[in-house]
Amino acid sequence: MVEIKEIIAQEISKATDIEKEEIKKYIEIPTNEENGDYAFPCFKLAKALKKAPQIIATEIKEKIEIDSNWIQKMEVVGGYINFYINTNTLAKEVLTEIENKKEEYGSSEKGKGKNIIVEYSSPNIAKEFHIGHLRTTVIGAAFYNIYKYLGYNTIGINHLGDYGTQFGKMIEGYKRWGTEYNLEENPIEELTKMYIRINDLCKEDEKVLEACRDNFKKLEEGDEYCTKLWNKFKELSLKEFYKTYDMLGVKFDSLNGESFYSDKMPEVIQLLEKSGKLIESQGAKIVDLEDKGINTPCIIEKTNGSTTYATRDLAAILYRARTYDYDKCIYVVAYEQNLHFKQVFEVAKLLGLDKKYTDGLIHIAYGMTRVSTGRMSTREGNVVKVNELLNEAISRVKDIIEEKNPNMENKEENARKIGIGAVIYNNLCTTLIKDQIFDWNTVLNFNGETGPYIQYIYVRTKSVLEKAGYNPSINEIDIAKLQDKESKKIIKTLYNFENTLETVIEKNETSILARYLIELAQSYSNFYNENKILGEEKDIQDARIYLTYAVGNVLKIGAKLLGIEMPDKM
Ligand code: ARG
Repeated sequence: MVEIKEIIAQEISKATDIEKEEIKKYIEIPTNEENGDYAFPCFKLAKALKKAPQIIATEIKEKIEIDSNWIQKMEVVGGYINFYINTNTLAKEVLTEIENKKEEYGSSEKGKGKNIIVEYSSPNIAKEFHIGHLRTTVIGAAFYNIYKYLGYNTIGINHLGDYGTQFGKMIEGYKRWGTEYNLEENPIEELTKMYIRINDLCKEDEKVLEACRDNFKKLEEGDEYCTKLWNKFKELSLKEFYKTYDMLGVKFDSLNGESFYSDKMPEVIQLLEKSGKLIESQGAKIVDLEDKGINTPCIIEKTNGSTTYATRDLAAILYRARTYDYDKCIYVVAYEQNLHFKQVFEVAKLLGLDKKYTDGLIHIAYGMTRVSTGRMSTREGNVVKVNELLNEAISRVKDIIEEKNPNMENKEENARKIGIGAVIYNNLCTTLIKDQIFDWNTVLNFNGETGPYIQYIYVRTKSVLEKAGYNPSINEIDIAKLQDKESKKIIKTLYNFENTLETVIEKNETSILARYLIELAQSYSNFYNENKILGEEKDIQDARIYLTYAVGNVLKIGAKLLGIEMPDKM
């Protein structure tokens, strides 16, 4: 599709002798439509050119020539040049593109040849999969989908927390009381109980603690019995985690977790020793990061000789650089681990890797979620269980359906899509770094800025098409019939879809796509309220039906990229 911003930047670049890419960064999309579709602020040039922005704007405007098929009007207002798109040409361009690409509208080959690792979810074996893990899972999956859609070679990694001394304890607990616990039925809960019990015993009896340490050592050395048990814990936990992943429709390309790196740590230590930055401190091996502005040193090896969480992350970076030759390695992890990633990314620079790899390390931090209402309120002190939360979402939607539309077909299926979609959307729609409150009334508000609202508008487009009973092809419609204000707004929004996806990965912010879909849904709702679709003159009706199809199509694609499925009725 023609990139109008590109054309504008090109012309301004010619007129000013400033690099096109530089100009592109300055070009804005005005918040008020009356100021045009794009605006170029000349304030930034004032100092260098020693002229008033207004004068610069006028001079540039005089010099540039843009095909009026694309830009129908330019205006200088204050220090801005405002550009007004020719919506007629744009409509043809956008709708033809949608006709050609259908369910692949917005996809591209821009990322071809680039390797992107997205690491997400990464829960800990034998521990509860909590609401924070839900958030990384949903956010990570959305980034994964979007990178893929833009043509990047994308690798999704679940960096399981499957390593550490606690497994020595768990093995000991199992040895003693394994048969007392119903691990098959309720693995995580039962393992947690067993863990608490053995931990208590360790506090009372030094000998038990000793036995636990011994188990862990054996596990590291590959002892058959210990490995078998550890595998059992891991399998049972994964079975439980996959209930959640299946409900969310989330997949991974690799489950290489912390234990995968257990034999890859000596090299990290060697490389750090070689760098001269690995120092002894109170019997431990650390890298001091004071001169990098990080006050806490990174511990590489503990006093007892065992490695750390950070060392395993460093080994993972080495491995990923070699195995995947990544351009970016993205970690979707809560902001509580900001310090950890600062340390690890800094120490990674000492491993002798190509700068490309250390520059490509990105931590996407997200905020905490607190559940405010219902029986899972965190104020009541309960830990929220994600599977229960998802099931509750579904059952609440079922209740709403029973009340409002009891004769709906595919009730079960639709309730599932709406309930899960609502939870997913809620995790993606606020600026990621912000803490958020999970409130059922907000999450399931069919008229709010929610997943169900987007689904609801989608279903409405479907029912318009169904009632019409036909779908005109692009060649049969007269695009000039889409001249009303609402249609124009929709066309511009449809045009911005691909750009929105690119902004998501540029700014590391899924909420940009989430909000885009709300905007598109709201635009359609306005269009629907203001205009008659069926029963209009045939050529107007056809054009509007086509526009309806286009909106439904893009809502569906965008929602799918976020991990949300569309119901067929609502
Ligand atoms: N397992 C950790 C947790 O649940 C998250 C792991 C994050 N990823 C990493 N490469 N350190 O808190």
